[in-house]
Amino acid sequence: QISELTLQSCLVFCTAFLLTCFFLKRRKNLPPYPAGCVPVLGHLLALGRAPHLKLTAWRRQYGDVFTVRMGMKDVVVLNGYTAVKDALVDRSELFASRLSSCLIEAMIGFGKDITMTPWGTEFRQRKRFATAVLRNLGMKSGTGSIEVKIREEASCLRNRIAEYNGEPSDIAHDVTVVVANVICSMLMGKRYDYKNKTFRELSQALSKTAKLGTGQVIDVFPLLRFVPVVNRPYINVLEECSKVRNVMRMEIDSHRENLDRENPRDFLDFCLLEVEKQEKVEGLTEENVMYMASDLFFAGIVTTTNTLLWSLLYMALNTDIQNKVQQELDAVVGEGLPALSHRSQLPYVNACLLEVMRIRPVAPLSIPHATTETVKMQGYDIPKGTQVLLNLYSLHMDPAYWPDPDRFDPGRFLDAEGNVINKPESSMPFGGGRRVCLGEQLARMELFLFFSTLLQSFTFRTPEGAPPPTTEGVFSLGLTPHPFKICAIPR
Ligand code: HEM
Repeated sequence: QISELTLQSCLVFCTAFLLTCFFLKRRKNLPPYPAGCVPVLGHLLALGRAPHLKLTAWRRQYGDVFTVRMGMKDVVVLNGYTAVKDALVDRSELFASRLSSCLIEAMIGFGKDITMTPWGTEFRQRKRFATAVLRNLGMKSGTGSIEVKIREEASCLRNRIAEYNGEPSDIAHDVTVVVANVICSMLMGKRYDYKNKTFRELSQALSKTAKLGTGQVIDVFPLLRFVPVVNRPYINVLEECSKVRNVMRMEIDSHRENLDRENPRDFLDFCLLEVEKQEKVEGLTEENVMYMASDLFFAGIVTTTNTLLWSLLYMALNTDIQNKVQQELDAVVGEGLPALSHRSQLPYVNACLLEVMRIRPVAPLSIPHATTETVKMQGYDIPKGTQVLLNLYSLHMDPAYWPDPDRFDPGRFLDAEGNVINKPESSMPFGGGRRVCLGEQLARMELFLFFSTLLQSFTFRTPEGAPPPTTEGVFSLGLTPHPFKICAIPR
């Protein structure tokens, strides 16, 4: 009995000793740790539920470059314009990789798509190819053009919202539907009806994935994925992602059967043609096509939907700004539907959208990058293969560039003559450099057309007698507004 007890004590002691050694072992000359790092969990507890806020606060204490511990892993965090621009733009290739994780592997398939493919030839070829296809589809004219499709969806959304007759309503699902339909038209040449079964499955997949929440802890402690109950959010997300992939697989099959080689209609058609000419996009397989399509589906819907919801919420909370937007729309667009040709004549509308993306970037910490080489930054050494978080929120909230940064003020993006000023150095909602968002142009088109169509048709108000909705947001895979109700009063 004594020897069994001794053995157990030894085991506990050795485990504690190893954990402490591991915890204390820190690579030489890595940027400093903020306070609050505890064994095993590292900074997880200190980061809390709003890591973008905590990291931005730590910047004031620890400077632009520091290291946080996520469980046993060191993650370097870059803050502010100088450090973020250095990594994203000036030395883009040194910071352009991604690291695998069990969550990513299971959700998106590491290395098979674009977003989660490490820096290298395959990534460059796939991204170049997909960018060219989106540009090609964007340039289509006539009824098949992306602009026409977005405008059709904008009027569907307008009609749908009109049905609420100005009553307080949560319009998040309605917005998701139209944004998803733009992506589905572009990817597979079809739009879905609100009640369609496949579409309901797809939109359920989106909302469940966006609410992953505590499931992300599996990334830090992969063994938890085998622990019942704790692993539930993770299992849910896997099931939802596999549903999306099944839909994409079915679409690829039907596109292959109906492929008109002289007249590719959508993203899947272009991809299938490229798969046939394997020599051009080296190694592009149908499996990659399925992962790339799912990638665009997930990356393109939640981001645009949430930005649009933020913009409507800020309009409802800032009635004077909303009035100015409507006056500009009335003067320039009049009765007809807003079109892209109006964009350059609507500086205040553009400034509003820029300000929404500054104050509530939907990807405040971007997507984690990884170093491709050992890099020296501000006197520190960041080893090859280190995960790097780019704190875009710290740029957007930097009082050196944006006085009183928490105030919503579209005027920041206008010069004395009322023209839009581009300030890419201090506002980067789409990231930058080699890993810049692939859908930036599409997203900007959608935001402009949806936002101006809605503001032309309705005045948005917060429900009377209820406390005003919060603008704090929920941080999960991105920064989402808390569910809120809004009154859309027909104009
Ligand atoms: C990547 C923002 C819409 C596809 C990203 C990144 C950000 C971002 C911050 C990470 C950049 C980095 O890693 O440094 C946004 C915002 C959007 C939006 C704010 C809307 C308001 C879209 C749309 C699509 C899309 C509509 C597709 C149609 C992608 C893809 C990547 C990406 C594929 C990965 C690029 C890469 O790894 O090289 N986006 N995005 N995004 N986005 Fe977007």
